[in-house]
Amino acid sequence: MNDADLSKRFAFAEQLVHEAGALALTMQRAPADAGVEMKGVRDFATAADKAVEELIVTRLSKEFGDAVLGEEFGGKASKDLLWIVDPIDGTYNYFHRNPRWCVSLGLMVKGRMELGLIFAPQSGDTYLARRGHGATRNGQRLAVSHPAYDTAPLIEIGCSTKRPLDLYIDLVRTVMTNGIETRRTGSGALGIAQVATGEIDGYVERYINSWDVAAALLMVTEAGGVVSDFFEGKALTEGNYILAASPWLAPRLTELTGITVA
Ligand code: IPD
Ligand code: CA
Repeated sequence: MNDADLSKRFAFAEQLVHEAGALALTMQRAPADAGVEMKGVRDFATAADKAVEELIVTRLSKEFGDAVLGEEFGGKASKDLLWIVDPIDGTYNYFHRNPRWCVSLGLMVKGRMELGLIFAPQSGDTYLARRGHGATRNGQRLAVSHPAYDTAPLIEIGCSTKRPLDLYIDLVRTVMTNGIETRRTGSGALGIAQVATGEIDGYVERYINSWDVAAALLMVTEAGGVVSDFFEGKALTEGNYILAASPWLAPRLTELTGITVA
């Protein structure tokens, strides 16, 4: 794909995440009207998750005819040219009107992330990344945290319902007893994007889906951070573990988690 085609898609996708976020906001109703459908223990979709994904898939297919892979409806996962969408990342927060949730959209071309877009409607924050062109939040260039934070590192550890809870608890124990403070805030996309902003120094999760991380991982590398090779094997459709960090913290996290960075 040439530069002009990518630029066209980048501009279109920026408008689209804003439109999608606006739709999610208008659908943020009282719990009784949310149309919740349980997918598993502590895992569910609201009517908004589905409506937002439908909007994004329809718009992208109509404008470009590109393939789309999404959290709610799946899709044909071709690594050649693929939009990867999480209509609402942080569904629990969204349901509870906790502001930490977002729309996440990434474009993969020939197995590599080229574009990443995240919009968090309740804070109004827009995160954008294009490979080789850097990453921004609301127009401000992003950079991962300074090594001076090594005196008191702060990371997020995500918890997936697809792995035993003990794996998460053990990881929190290991990391904290080794002098690293942890958080868990309910949106993998925003957690990883926060590594790119330098507000936290790393993000680790034993299992996460491709739509949660696709856009945010590009933000981290474009902001000078390092990430594990998430898209190896069948991760696109089956998920993988993830480590994203400032370069100075990555070796310590690798030692504690066994996850290497690319
Ligand atoms: C989840 C969130 C959570 C992460 C999970 C994801 P959802 O996505 O990103 O922070 O730890 O792995 O599945 O269900 O809110 O879209
Ligand atoms: Ca998600």
